[in-house]
Amino acid sequence: MKENEASATAYAVLQGLIHAGRQPGTMGLVAPEVLEAGEAILSSTAEGRKRLAQLDSGLFRALVPVVEFLLIPGLTLHYALRKRFIEDATLLAIEDGVTQVINLGAGFDTLAWRLHGRHPGVNFIEIDHPATSDAKAEALLKKAGAADNLHQLAVDFTEQTLEDRLGPFPGFQADRPTLYICEGVLPYLTVPQVTELLRTLTVLAKGKPPRLVCTCVEPMDAPENNTGPLLGLYLKLKGEDIHWRIAHGAVAGFLRERGYSVEDLATVVDFRTRYLSGRPHGTLHGGEYGVVARVLPEG
Ligand SMILES: C[S@@+](CC[C@H](N)C(=O)[O-])C[C@H]1O[C@@H](n2cnc3c(N)ncnc32)[C@H](O)[C@@H]1O
Repeated sequence: MKENEASATAYAVLQGLIHAGRQPGTMGLVAPEVLEAGEAILSSTAEGRKRLAQLDSGLFRALVPVVEFLLIPGLTLHYALRKRFIEDATLLAIEDGVTQVINLGAGFDTLAWRLHGRHPGVNFIEIDHPATSDAKAEALLKKAGAADNLHQLAVDFTEQTLEDRLGPFPGFQADRPTLYICEGVLPYLTVPQVTELLRTLTVLAKGKPPRLVCTCVEPMDAPENNTGPLLGLYLKLKGEDIHWRIAHGAVAGFLRERGYSVEDLATVVDFRTRYLSGRPHGTLHGGEYGVVARVLPEG
């Protein structure tokens, strides 16, 4: 993560999502409102405009499968699938009584922006590194005007703790049933940092035990992991290394040891069944999966 620049991976996720949403085969997988909000974010910064122009270039679009082959085959489609998983889990949680949704490392995700008007009784908070947070605020959140159920909190997790920053944040309501979203973020943390984050979520809650929807990455040698040969080098160059990998068969045990029980786990096989049935599609990325978990009640 470069100190004064919005996250390269946050840009890459949004650009990839828009690319997937514009492909004829998978059109409709990304809702028009998601594309519209995403394009609004990209069009508000120089880097974003460059990426939008790339998406309009035939040469760039032709190169996407080549780059994916070298880094992560099926990645742009995967972004669309994992975002569907996160959105489904969030809507289910809201239906089930969650009244606060906190996105940790929200990047340029548009879920909170799109849902806050539709769910005025739900409090949304987005947290990210200051450089990314500022770029997002410039693009979307300032347009939200006085929406009192959509907040943004800048935190640099390398220098500040979630407990110290979110606990006293006036937009945070500790007594609300809360869902935390951690999409494409946990792999950047070390195991002690993941453990500390999971502990913090329970410490911050003053009411019902919190829930979590997150994505995790498989070990490099897992059979599902079809990561390309240059991914490690790419992330190193971008300063966003992967530190935490866990096999999908081991994640329930890992979370149970930290007081969480897994309620849903979706691998690439489940993503295909849930979101692609009957649709023609190319290679899918098998190296990342989604998890929904809930803190176990004490005792
Ligand atoms: C791969 S992006 C995922 C963005 C978003 N969750 C999504 O999936 O669309 C990782 C996010 O983690 C954030 N991040 C990385 N290091 C951070 C740090 N030290 N403090 C706060 N956020 C950080 C980045 O700014 C970026 O938005």
